[in-house]
Amino acid sequence: MMGKKFVDNFRIIETNALNSTTFLIIIQSEKKLPDIHPGQFVNVEVKNTNDVFLRRPFSIFEVDYPNKTISLIIKILGKGSKKLTEIRQGDTLNVVYPLGSGFTYPEASDSILLVGGGSGVAPMLFLAKQSGIKNVDIILGAKTAHDHINVDKYSKYANLHFTTEDGSLGEKGYVTNHPVFQQLGNYTKVYACGPHAMMKAIAMEARKVGVFCEVSLENIMACGFGVCLCCVEPTKKGNLCVCTEGPVFNLNDLTW
Ligand SMILES: Cc1cc2nc3c(=O)[nH]c(=O)nc-3n(C[C@H](O)[C@H](O)[C@H](O)COP(=O)(O)OP(=O)(O)OC[C@H]3O[C@@H](n4cnc5c(N)ncnc54)[C@H](O)[C@@H]3O)c2cc1C
Ligand code: FES
Repeated sequence: MMGKKFVDNFRIIETNALNSTTFLIIIQSEKKLPDIHPGQFVNVEVKNTNDVFLRRPFSIFEVDYPNKTISLIIKILGKGSKKLTEIRQGDTLNVVYPLGSGFTYPEASDSILLVGGGSGVAPMLFLAKQSGIKNVDIILGAKTAHDHINVDKYSKYANLHFTTEDGSLGEKGYVTNHPVFQQLGNYTKVYACGPHAMMKAIAMEARKVGVFCEVSLENIMACGFGVCLCCVEPTKKGNLCVCTEGPVFNLNDLTW
C-alpha cells in the first residue's frame, strides 16, 4: 500500500478547537492529492520556533479529494503540537505525506470492530468511512468526557460506544472493559490505534479469541523516513521502523 511520498506546502483553511487541548486543522493543497489510505500519516514541519527541529507525525483524519484537503486532529502534548495549534487560517504548513502503511481493508463479508484511544481516535473515522462496511462498531476511549472530541462525524459511519477512565461518559474504565469489546469473538476483524499499553491489552484479547487484529503504533519518531531508527519496534520479522514498516502491524507479526 506504500506509494510515492510528496513534500508540499499546504494552506490552512480551517482551525477549530474541539476542546481546550485538541484542535481540528484542515489543510489544502494546490495539487491533486495522491491516493491516501486510513492509517497513513503526515509528517509536519513546525515553523516559527527555535526549539522544535524535527517534524511531528499526525494521522490522517479525513481526506476530501475534490477540495484537495486533508484534516488532522492535533492534541497538545508538548512544544511542537502546541505551536501547530497556534497556526491560523491562511498560514502554510509544510507536510511530507502520505507516510507509512495503512490498515488492510476489510472484505464486504467482515464484521469489524474499531477501537481508538487518546489521539488514536483520529485514523478510526477515516477507516470507518473507507471500510465499505455498513454496520461498523467503534469504541472510543479517553480519560474523561472532556477529552472526547465532537463525535457527529463518527456516528455517520459507525455505531459509537464510549469509555472514560473516570466514568464521566459511557462505560467506566478502559476500552477493553466495554461490553462491546467483551464480545470480541463476534467480529472477524479488529483494528486499533492508541497508546502502547492499550494496543497490547487489545492484542492480548484478540489473540485469546483468535480474531484478525491490526494495531497502529504511535512510537516516538524523529526522521520519519527510516534513517534514525528511533521508532524501531521489535517484531517477528526483526526490528522494524514504525515510520516506514508501520505504523500499522498485524498482531501475528508482533512479539507481544
Ligand atoms: C504514526 C503516528 C500518528 C500520530 N497521530 C497523531 C494524531 O493524529 N493526533 C495527535 O494529536 N497526535 C498524534 N501522534 C502523536 C504526535 O506525533 C505527538 O503528540 C507529537 O509528535 C508530540 O510532539 P510535541 O513536540 O508536542 O511533544 P514533545 O515535546 O516532543 O513531547 C512531549 C512529551 O510527550 C512524549 N511524546 C512525544 N511523542 C509521543 C508519542 N508519539 N507517544 C507518546 N508520547 C510521546 C515525549 O516523550 C515527551 O515526554 C501520532 C504519532 C505517531 C507516531
Ligand atoms: S523516525 Fe527515524 S527511523 Fe523512524
